[in-house]
Amino acid sequence: PIPTLRRGPRGLALENVDLADIAAAHGTPTYVYSLAALTAAYQSWRDALGERRALVCYAVKANANLGVLSAFARLGAGFDIVSGGELTRVLAAGGSADKVVFSGVGKNAAEMRQALEAGIRCFNVESAAELERLAEVAAAMGKVAPISLRVNPDVDPKTHPYISTGLRNNKFGVAFDEALILYRRAAALPSLRVAGIDCHIGSQLLDGAPALEAAEKILGLVDRLAAEGIELEHIDLGGGLGIRYRDEEPPAVADYLAPLLAPFDGRREELMFEPGRSLVGNAGLLLTRIEYLKPGVEKNFAVIDAAMNDLARPALYDAWHDIVEVAPRASVRRYEVVGPVCESGDFLGRDRSLGVEAGDLLAVLSAGAYGMTMSSNYNSRPRAAEVIVDGAHAHLVRARETVEQLYAGEQPLA
Ligand code: LLP
Repeated sequence: PIPTLRRGPRGLALENVDLADIAAAHGTPTYVYSLAALTAAYQSWRDALGERRALVCYAVKANANLGVLSAFARLGAGFDIVSGGELTRVLAAGGSADKVVFSGVGKNAAEMRQALEAGIRCFNVESAAELERLAEVAAAMGKVAPISLRVNPDVDPKTHPYISTGLRNNKFGVAFDEALILYRRAAALPSLRVAGIDCHIGSQLLDGAPALEAAEKILGLVDRLAAEGIELEHIDLGGGLGIRYRDEEPPAVADYLAPLLAPFDGRREELMFEPGRSLVGNAGLLLTRIEYLKPGVEKNFAVIDAAMNDLARPALYDAWHDIVEVAPRASVRRYEVVGPVCESGDFLGRDRSLGVEAGDLLAVLSAGAYGMTMSSNYNSRPRAAEVIVDGAHAHLVRARETVEQLYAGEQPLA
């Protein structure tokens, strides 16, 4: 699934760097990303959008490493953020505030002030209460906040229930029927400027039809607003395009976008998208070493040095990530690939065929999205290092955390 991963004479290599060399230089577990793969993924969005006026706002939550953000900033991407922390990261990485959209149901006043001060492109407002608070915060600062309403189009994205967000019964966005009333309210508030509309129906979408249904509903609303004299500058169709982890067959970006773009032909609004996973998921892997092999009566275990705290997706969603040997051995057995954390749910893969010995390296694939960003320090495990490979160069973009950093803000009782 990672386009720049190849098998060379010294085992697996990402671009032109042997994974064994990365392990030797930086230890394990380490997240390794390919700059060429990130760039190609972004370029496939740009190519599919062609000459259309459109902004691709990379969803920072998928992978917030400064190295990754700086790569997208250089490519001209915008950013979709969900916290003040993500905004700080984007700016630290060289992203420009005027390409930032701010999503999320729980923005607090301090985050609103920070984003207004920075001059972001748009707040994606998710409730009536948030709209009122933003108006107050902006008024107190003597500023005008650009807003978009995240409208919940009530379509079923047919994905994992934990990551589907566009159905009526979940917490995201404002109900379709409520949107018109809220837009009128926003238009009447002098500290708000109605800039756009947005929606996001879910993640890891493998079928374009629900997104098209959502886009058409949104467009209907845009035209009703225009009829009332509320003209929008942009339409943001969110993120969600899925990737291949195992045998999924997500549409290519161009095939996903073609039907979505058709209804917008000849319209004057700028289009925006908020892809996360499809830009980084298959640009990264988690490099880990086998500590022990533990043959069992019913199952064999490969105990690795990465765990659920490093990559939560298997434990959390029962998600599949391919696991491959960096340098495979001839004799193959089936293993439960588990980490050192004290939970039975601490597995990265179940029942996997591997030709390995203790001490060997494994690569957990498709780990570029929602890997490091969802990691934790459970069991006082310092978080992994992160490396970006660019051709024959490996750049350490995050040093491995130390245990002292973990408790730096703590105190024993006096
Ligand atoms: N925009 C909004 C408003 C979102 O909520 C999300 C993702 C995105 C954009 C980016 O979606 P993407 O293109 O990455 O699908 N932790 C889960 C995924 C959670 C996605 C949450 N929202 C996982 O590991 O599968």
